[in-house]
Amino acid sequence: MDMITIQGGMQLNGEVATSGAKNAALPILFSALLAEGQHEFTNVPKLRDIYSTKELLESLNCEVKFENNTFKVNVKRPEKLQAHYDYVRKMRASILCLGPLLSKYHEAEVSLPGGCAIGTRPINIHLDSLKEMGAQIEVKAGYVHAKAPGGLKGARILFEVATVGGTENIMMAAVFAQGETVIENAAKEPEIVDMANYLIKMGAKIEGAGTSIIRVQGVNELKPATHDIIPDRIEAGTLLIAGAITGGDVTVTRCVPDHLEALILKLRESGFKIETSDSSIRVLPQSVWKGVDITTTPHPGFATDLQAQFMALMVEAEGTSVITESVFENRFMHVQELVRLNADITPKTRVAVVRGKKGGLLAAPVMATDLRASACLILAGLVAQGETKVKRIYHLDRGYENLELKLASLGAKVQRLKEE
Ligand code: EPU
Repeated sequence: MDMITIQGGMQLNGEVATSGAKNAALPILFSALLAEGQHEFTNVPKLRDIYSTKELLESLNCEVKFENNTFKVNVKRPEKLQAHYDYVRKMRASILCLGPLLSKYHEAEVSLPGGCAIGTRPINIHLDSLKEMGAQIEVKAGYVHAKAPGGLKGARILFEVATVGGTENIMMAAVFAQGETVIENAAKEPEIVDMANYLIKMGAKIEGAGTSIIRVQGVNELKPATHDIIPDRIEAGTLLIAGAITGGDVTVTRCVPDHLEALILKLRESGFKIETSDSSIRVLPQSVWKGVDITTTPHPGFATDLQAQFMALMVEAEGTSVITESVFENRFMHVQELVRLNADITPKTRVAVVRGKKGGLLAAPVMATDLRASACLILAGLVAQGETKVKRIYHLDRGYENLELKLASLGAKVQRLKEE
């Protein structure tokens, strides 16, 4: 198993480019199932979750070539319309093949994803919405068995929670449904817009992606197309915070500043000077910054996927910061590990009070518990006195492409080693 060691105290400076967005690539790769033939996607990050998607698509009879961030997939009718537990247990996003398989082939069997380190993560909204579209759904022996003899039907659906995966699954389900599907209280994340753009390229009729009401008119056929995946806003935010926490001058290129408005606002409120261009964000050197409060909410609010990283920054701030996690019920697993690095944090169920102190972090061995927690611990390691060892780094490889190499290119002393 790999671990990452970080020698704290190096100021990061320079330019670094963002990779393609994991959370846009995953649903888009699954949306390819809607059209048999050759699809081509560029700017696809080389991540464990993408390789897991490749394996799942291959199990569904697709031929995949993934080289140099280009993902070519030749979609053929699957022999078995099933996403086996072996794939779904490796990656929850596998549930995203339910919508396209059911829409196109009127039948699908997908293993139930379990809970994970950040919460129970139910899929009730996905399933209830498909039922409203006429699907017969049975959950037994750990699988969702879905059928829509004669095809799905358009429906007016109101989401109880603005779920990202639910919006994606129902948009994909709706493209071949008879008539119009309207999703109200849809998620508005940039990744939803990117997926809708690909569906439209294939011939789908979709309006309103990026707003809370999405309308999909069913069509009879889609054709494969090509697409360049949007930049990863969470990676861009993580790199920006890496610059900020070390008091450095870092420009993150190949990103979309509009996707990171809430983070930029909070960095400025904390005292950082931030400059943006069309496709880059620069954080300027700052030696002291103050604690600010954040509450995670769906886009365009402060992203839950940046909460852990921002907490690391607040640990080094002057003053108190109240961090409220409103999206997931158990996303503070990094707190105890930050405390091992000498941070002063009191966690309650969904609120953590961080009493910041500049220069207070001391290196220690710590353990990554999930993807964003891994990034948080690496950021803390950049400023902790001494050598921090972050273990169980396989979580990081699910969602960051070469993070340690990117940080090293900015001047960090960071290394990947085999765990002793
Ligand atoms: N929810 C329900 N019922 C449902 C679906 C969701 O109650 O049927 C609840 C969840 O339990 C959660 C909230 O709704 O409390 C939001 O969950 P959502 O469905 O929006 O999350 P997701 O689609 O499972 C995606 C990202 C996550 C990111 C969230 C929120 C992908 C592959 N994953 O998950 O990314 O945190 O949206 O923005 O797109 C990550 O990259 O580290 C990550 C966890």
